[in-house]
Amino acid sequence: MAPSLPQDEEAPSTRNGSKRIVPSRLYEIDKAPSFTQFTKLCTQTQNPDDYPLSDSIVTNIPVYDLSKYNISETSIASSLQDEWFEILRSGPGVLVLKNFETDSSLLHRINEVFDEIISKEEGASSKGDHFAAAGKNSRIWNSFQKHALQDPDSFVEYYSNPWLAIACEAWLGPAYQVTAQVNIVKPGGAPQNPHRDYHLGFQTAESCAAFPKSMQIASQLLTLQGAVAHSEMPLDSGPTRFLPFSQQFEEGYMAWRLSEFKQYFEDHWVSLPLNLGDAVFFNPALFHAAGENHSQLDRSANLLQISSAFGKPMETIDNLAIIKNCWGALKRLNSEGGRDREVDACVRAIASGYPFPTNLDRRPPAPGGMAPCSEADVVFGALQEDWTTDRVVEAIQKVQTDSLA
Ligand SMILES: [Fe+2]
Repeated sequence: MAPSLPQDEEAPSTRNGSKRIVPSRLYEIDKAPSFTQFTKLCTQTQNPDDYPLSDSIVTNIPVYDLSKYNISETSIASSLQDEWFEILRSGPGVLVLKNFETDSSLLHRINEVFDEIISKEEGASSKGDHFAAAGKNSRIWNSFQKHALQDPDSFVEYYSNPWLAIACEAWLGPAYQVTAQVNIVKPGGAPQNPHRDYHLGFQTAESCAAFPKSMQIASQLLTLQGAVAHSEMPLDSGPTRFLPFSQQFEEGYMAWRLSEFKQYFEDHWVSLPLNLGDAVFFNPALFHAAGENHSQLDRSANLLQISSAFGKPMETIDNLAIIKNCWGALKRLNSEGGRDREVDACVRAIASGYPFPTNLDRRPPAPGGMAPCSEADVVFGALQEDWTTDRVVEAIQKVQTDSLA
């Protein structure tokens, strides 16, 4: 069942005399969502024939081996995107991409960069995360920007991964903002409680209930949730637990805190082992939870939270600082030739591809156009003309300051 605006099923049918009673736009916080409807959705079985490009369907999760595909074949990339879009929207809501990043030495190098950042930040007493007390896990908030500033060469190599751009584009279209957070769960690390993610997943039940039914659907369309395995993740290390199809439950943001729904998750979750460099992407409305680490390994993931250009990201990213620090590495990548897809992926990750909000007095659309140029437009042009760091920084700065009110 595809998420749809709820008015169809809420068709006006009640009347008080001659006056129609308009249905509420809101879910009632005191009225529990239908558990029967929820379990009906979550007991679906994924037909393997529905996703012919997948390698297998394991416990209802489609698994793709990207090493089988030639990324330069545009039609294959587009067909994969069609499958991924449907899985995320109206299928199981989660997919695994094996061999997402095949350069293990790059991942090891980046892990060292992450360790340096963690060491630098150690001692900050306020750190912790949503679900674990400070000190139980290692967490880097905004690993995206910190990585760019710490080691631009490995950052550009990592975020120029065309598969990342293909996955983002499948769910969000060509303009989006990457944010990332590193999470390292040590042996003995406890499991998370099941939950939904940003936006409405990060609100109290009371705040969530104030958003109309249409926004309860919109929330899941504005973010793509992902994770890249930066370590081996055998099952006993506790890779993320998922409840396939649960994103289809329209009242899910009102349900995940309720004990009946939590217990159902505990009884029915599934999880797949990941190898170093594999990735998982999922709909942020899917019920999920990090698992318990029973192994002797540190379970390490770079969590990707990619925001639609039409939404507000969870973290603020200083694109200008990233572009400034990475310009040399990006120009080197561009000069290698034959790596257009990688350059394109990296530019989309580090520069805004969407020109709004802006100031239309200072940045009117070009004649005949509807929108002024975006940061990404500037960066693509600057690469073509081999601009210096100072010149591209000045141009991006101008875009940003001219966009202010
Ligand atoms: Fe989460």
